[in-house]
Amino acid sequence: MSGPVAPSCFTFLVPRITKNRIIFCLLLVNLVLIFLYSEVKRQSSSLSRPNPGGYRGGKPEGINTDSSSHAPASDALIINSDIGDPVIFEPYWLKYGIDMVIPPWHSISYVSSQRQISPFFEDFLIDEIISVHKIVGNAVTKDRHIVIGAGSIQLLQAALYALSVNDRSPPLKVVSAYPFYSAYPMVTDFVQSKLYEWAGDAMDFEATSNRDGYIEIVNYPNNPDGTFRHAVVNGSGGLIHDLAYYWPQYTPITSPADHDIMLFTLSKFSGHAGSRVGWAIVKDLKVAQLMSKYIFLNTIGLSRDAQARAAHIMRYVVHHYSQKGSAPYRLKTGPDNTTLLFHHAYDALKHRWKELRGLVVSGARFTLQDYPLAFCTFFGETTTSHPAFAWLKCEQDRNCEELLNSVNVRSRGGHQFGILDPQYTRISMILNLKEFTTLHSRLALLNNSSQTQCEIELTTERSDWSARYL
Ligand SMILES: Cc1ncc(COP(=O)(O)O)c(C=O)c1O
Ligand SMILES: *[C@@H]1O[C@H](CO)[C@@H](O)[C@H](O)[C@H]1NC(C)=O
Ligand SMILES: *[C@@H]1O[C@H](CO)[C@@H](O)[C@H](O)[C@H]1NC(C)=O
Ligand SMILES: *[C@@H]1O[C@H](CO)[C@@H](O)[C@H](O)[C@H]1NC(C)=O
Ligand SMILES: *[C@@H]1O[C@H](CO)[C@@H](O)[C@H](O)[C@H]1NC(C)=O
Repeated sequence: MSGPVAPSCFTFLVPRITKNRIIFCLLLVNLVLIFLYSEVKRQSSSLSRPNPGGYRGGKPEGINTDSSSHAPASDALIINSDIGDPVIFEPYWLKYGIDMVIPPWHSISYVSSQRQISPFFEDFLIDEIISVHKIVGNAVTKDRHIVIGAGSIQLLQAALYALSVNDRSPPLKVVSAYPFYSAYPMVTDFVQSKLYEWAGDAMDFEATSNRDGYIEIVNYPNNPDGTFRHAVVNGSGGLIHDLAYYWPQYTPITSPADHDIMLFTLSKFSGHAGSRVGWAIVKDLKVAQLMSKYIFLNTIGLSRDAQARAAHIMRYVVHHYSQKGSAPYRLKTGPDNTTLLFHHAYDALKHRWKELRGLVVSGARFTLQDYPLAFCTFFGETTTSHPAFAWLKCEQDRNCEELLNSVNVRSRGGHQFGILDPQYTRISMILNLKEFTTLHSRLALLNNSSQTQCEIELTTERSDWSARYL
């Protein structure tokens, strides 16, 4: 750019050099130099700006809340509504979270505790877990044993091991009423254990077997369809209750859950899926010990850094609620209670569900599961479920997952959850706001258009299996 300026100044000056002409030329060159300098600076600063924590795209997206405007998004952008990544919580923690520092000398040792059933579990985390359940009222912890693992997925495997290792005639049949969480069959069968094997739908097992030698996994509220469930096999087999979503933002808390083995996870409680923190509340000491043994032999406990982070997050949540006394914590949001995690997440999910339902009821193409009203002891009022996933049914199209693919929305088809009907697909409601907004507008497009008439180019590429398991 400075190249052509000098010669043109020169030809401008040569015929008649005056003071004014010299000043004009100097000004021009100055302006060009300032422009060039600012350009170079802008480029180099964008190169050297650190990417905090190696986060995709730097700072977390969507500081704005659900009330922000619906920005049009590029049609080609693929919306991954397939995996259940709980990034809906990001804006909350960005706004309200308190930084935490773990000094380099801290928690160097393998072992941490003398008090727990395993020396790899941090006392202070167990204390926070108990406090959280006390505040929320969603699980009995008195006289129970707490086992900590790398997400509830590791604990599920630990529980399968604990329930089957001393059985006289393995392999035990692992069942769950369909539609069941798509990870259950994969996690059960991938090591081809001699102790247990996946046997599919629990209703089918109840109806066709002698109800012997089995483990039933009960998930409530259920992933993918958000329904409330009870064990269906009438026998004396092992029971694992996966309560990943039994938190007030997703479903009314009707009473403290009280089952033999209950699995919870930080992933869906506060959104910190990347920390990989899960816990099991276990009635029987022997079962808790066997689960701890599995975790010891598998990963020698869970990272103490992750345990410290989980305790920090829980302490924050508990602190803010206990300042308000004890439950019920009324829902009506006021200026001073948007800092409350469950209130914040409840509002966000409620808003999204309202938007999605508004779209679905106005048209004939999609339908959604209806959820009953129930009295939530945590909020002290009657509420309904706003699950982390919507179980979408296509009423006119043969294959719902494919239909959504045609507008570049990835979802998880019913077959992954053990049902053969391709009219169902699962979409995530806990993705980030921008993605949800785009998802909503693409569904609106489908709602308005006649069958399969879409202008958006079809992308055939599928997400790989590892992403599809979450
Ligand atoms: C029902 C259910 N159980 C367990 C998990 C696994 O959670 P974690 O991140 O704790 O392994 C998920 C995650 O999506 C889930 O939906
Ligand atoms: C469960 O089985 C027992 C007999 O084994 C029977 O008495 C009982 O009625 C059954 N319960 C249900 C709910 O079917
Ligand atoms: C939230 O604020 C509203 C209005 O100020 C109030 O009625 C409600 O009790 C508050 N909820 C909690 C849990 O503090
Ligand atoms: C959905 O489609 C119907 C027509 O089938 C239309 O009346 C309605 O306005 C659409 N809803 C939205 C939210 O666009
Ligand atoms: C769908 O149709 C309704 C009117 O029937 C219109 O208001 C809306 O903007 C349309 N939405 C899309 C995404 O085309």
